[in-house]
Amino acid sequence: MILGDLTFLPTGSVGEASSDIGMPCRPGRVCVTSCGHLGQGLPVQRPQDVALGRRGRCQCARHSSEAWPGIGADPGSMTSEVVEDEGRFYSKAQQYWKDVPATVDGMLGGYGHISNTDLAGSRKFLQRFLQDGPDQIGTTYALDCGAGIGRITKRLLLPIFKTVDMVDVTPDFLAKAKTFLGQDGKRVGNYFCCGLQDFHPEPNHYDLIWIQWVIGHLTDEHLVAFLKRCKAGLRPNGIVIIKDNATQEGVVMDEVDSSICRDVEVVRKLIKEAGLTLLAEEKQKNFPDEIYSVLSFAMR
Ligand SMILES: C[S@@+](CC[C@H](N)C(=O)[O-])C[C@H]1O[C@@H](n2cnc3c(N)ncnc32)[C@H](O)[C@@H]1O
Repeated sequence: MILGDLTFLPTGSVGEASSDIGMPCRPGRVCVTSCGHLGQGLPVQRPQDVALGRRGRCQCARHSSEAWPGIGADPGSMTSEVVEDEGRFYSKAQQYWKDVPATVDGMLGGYGHISNTDLAGSRKFLQRFLQDGPDQIGTTYALDCGAGIGRITKRLLLPIFKTVDMVDVTPDFLAKAKTFLGQDGKRVGNYFCCGLQDFHPEPNHYDLIWIQWVIGHLTDEHLVAFLKRCKAGLRPNGIVIIKDNATQEGVVMDEVDSSICRDVEVVRKLIKEAGLTLLAEEKQKNFPDEIYSVLSFAMR
């Protein structure tokens, strides 16, 4: 059964060739292996595992360090170690998202049901920067990066900020946003259809730049360069927030949607390289066990 971009396999069956099999667990990917704790928890094997008489191998955050000789998995520590062809890395991702339904479930790879929890956690994290005090940000203008159909713009940003800009590489998502956002969509200033690797936020313009579940689509070099441009795009006292998946250790490639997942140390290092200072960091609570840890980083 296909739900969004997820492939669910019938209980108890041995998996057929599926591009999801053996991929890391996260919004966007179900970990379809035989490990006992997983949501799907199904005994699934990749064709090559079957040929070699192996069980499926779990690459979820809990199990990615359990090495299986000969399969996939020594994580790198930089995207240059795991991204072989940069042009292909970007074009494959673009193609992947073109085929994803323009729905909340599509944005979250079949994990639409965690959207409320995610948004509540984000509101709480952001709240500390809305209160009186030295870290307080303005509420005039926000930018939603990798905004998709505007799941975050609609329920987190538009209720707080006077105007919100959205940027995403997938034109159909931005087109959908125009109806998805309803009346409040009138307060979207610009719908920028652009890859973040090429996007230049207007200097000195935004009180908040929100970047969620998209940094994995940028190489280290492009992420650092983009964060530098974001820094220049901030108004006085403005902040950038990144919210994304994190591996337990190392950088892991997902060939299906052509993204990489970094560990917390690597993300912190790239933030520093961009000349930004971390102000707060928090792990999202109450997410399903089978997906990667999700962390928020606030910086300026
Ligand atoms: C997992 S969805 C997250 C959407 C949104 N941030 C949310 O949390 O609902 C990833 C989004 O990133 C977009 N995307 C992928 N690669 C991108 C890139 N290089 N630049 C900008 N957006 C990109 C996709 O089109 C998709 O909308």
